[in-house]
Amino acid sequence: MKKLIKNADIVTESAVFRGDVLINGEKTECIGRDIECPDAELIDASGKLLLPGAVDVHTHMDLDVGIARACDDFYSGTVAAACGGTTCIVDHMAFAHENVSLMHQVDEYHRLADGRAVIDYGFHGVLQHMNDDKLSEMKEIAEREGITSWKAYMTYGANMTDDEWLYKVLRTANEAGLVIPVHCENDAVVETLKAEFGAAGKWQPRWHPLSRPAGAEAEAVSRLLHLAKIAGEAPAYIVHLSAAESLAEVEKARRAGQKHFGVETCAQYLTLTDSAYDADSEGLKAIMSPPLRKREDCGAIWDALSKGGVIDTIATDHCPFTFSKQKQLGRDDFRKCPNGAPGVEERLNVVYSEGVAGGRISLPQMVRYLCTEPARIFGLYPDKGAIMPGADADLVILDPGAEHVLSIADMHTACDYSCYEGMKLRGRIEKVFSRGKIIVRDNEFIGNRGYGRYLRRHNGSLTE
Ligand code: URP
Ligand code: ZN
Repeated sequence: MKKLIKNADIVTESAVFRGDVLINGEKTECIGRDIECPDAELIDASGKLLLPGAVDVHTHMDLDVGIARACDDFYSGTVAAACGGTTCIVDHMAFAHENVSLMHQVDEYHRLADGRAVIDYGFHGVLQHMNDDKLSEMKEIAEREGITSWKAYMTYGANMTDDEWLYKVLRTANEAGLVIPVHCENDAVVETLKAEFGAAGKWQPRWHPLSRPAGAEAEAVSRLLHLAKIAGEAPAYIVHLSAAESLAEVEKARRAGQKHFGVETCAQYLTLTDSAYDADSEGLKAIMSPPLRKREDCGAIWDALSKGGVIDTIATDHCPFTFSKQKQLGRDDFRKCPNGAPGVEERLNVVYSEGVAGGRISLPQMVRYLCTEPARIFGLYPDKGAIMPGADADLVILDPGAEHVLSIADMHTACDYSCYEGMKLRGRIEKVFSRGKIIVRDNEFIGNRGYGRYLRRHNGSLTE
C-alpha cells in the first residue's frame, strides 16, 4: 500500500527542492530527505520533476451542443486528461432545455460521468433562463451537492444571462460564497457580425475570429468586473481570457484594488494564433470561442503570467469535435461548425515546454497556474493541487530532458486531431498517480474505468 518516490525534484507553487515523497494508500504521508520505509515500493525519480497532478477546471466532456456532441465522453476524455498529467477536472455542463430546473443538468451529468471517469471530477453548474426560483436552487444545490460554482454566458443567444440576471446571480453568489465563472463576449457585436458576414457570403473559417473581435471580449470582461464590483465585489471568474485588450481591463480592476475575482486563460491562447484560420479546410479545427488571437496577444498573456498577480489559472476549455465528421458541419459556413477544440491531453506538456523550458515562467509558477490555484479557487485545495502531507497522492513524474514531437497518433482522446500537431515539445510525462495508484506509465493508460470519484467541493478562495 506504500510507495516511496526517491530523489525527485519536487515542485510546489513556491519552491523546487530535491527530496522523497512517501505515499500511504491514497494520501501523501510525508515529504523529506532520505526517507526510509522498508515495506514501501521504491520509485527512483532521480533527475525527474515531481509535480502535483494538474487540475483542469474548464473541460466539456460529452458536451451536447444540439448539432453535435463533444466526441470525448467522461471515459475517453479523462483517459486523455490522465495521460496528459491531469488528475482532476471540473467540467462545465451543457445548456439544458428551457423550463427545467437547475437540478436537471446535475442529474444528467452524474449519469454521464459516474462509472466512466478515470480521475476525480466535479461539475460547474450552468445558468440559463434565470428566475428567482433558480437563484434559490443554486444555493440549495451548492449545499447538497457541493457544486459551488455556477457558470453564466454573456453570449449564446437565448441561453445567455442578461445583465439584469447576471447582476442578481452575482449578488446571490456573494451572499452564498459561490463562484460565478463567466464566458465574456458582447453578444450583440458577435451576432451582428455573424449575420453580416453570412449575408455577404463570408463563410470561410477566416471570418470566425473577425466575427468575435478582441474588443467584444474586453467590453464583456469590463462589464462583468463592474457588475461584480457593484454586487459587493462578488466572486466572479473570467473563463478563457484570450486577448491583450481584455487583460488591460483586468489589470485596471486589479490596480483599482478590486478583490475576489479570478482570471483564467487557456494553453491555446498562449501558443496558437489566428493564422490557424487561414487555410480554409484546416481552419475548422481551430473554431472555438473566443477565437485564437494575434502573436502579440499570446505575448501579453505570457508576460502577465510571468509577472504574476494578474491571471490565476491556465485551463483548456477542452471541447473536442472530430475534424473528419463533426467539424465538417461548418465546411460551407463557419457559423455551423461546432465550437471547441481538444486540449486536455496537451496542456501540461505544452505549458511546460513553451512556458518553463521556453524561459517564460518558472516551475513554481507553472504549478501554481495548472494545479494549486485552480484547486484553491474551486474549493478542492488542499486535497487536490498540492504535494503536502494529507493531500491526495495525485502526482506526476515528468522527465525534463526528454523531447518529442506531438502527434495525434500517440494520443488517447477520441478526437482525430490536435491543434498542436507537429509541435516540438520538451519534457515528457513518465508516470501519473491518482490517489496513490499509478494510472499512466510511459504514455500508456493503466487505470480503470469508473475509478474517478465525484468531488463535492467546498467554497473556494475567491469567496474568503
Ligand atoms: O468554443 C468553445 N469554447 N466551446 C466550448 C463551449 C464554450 O463556450 O465554452
Ligand atoms: Zn468552455
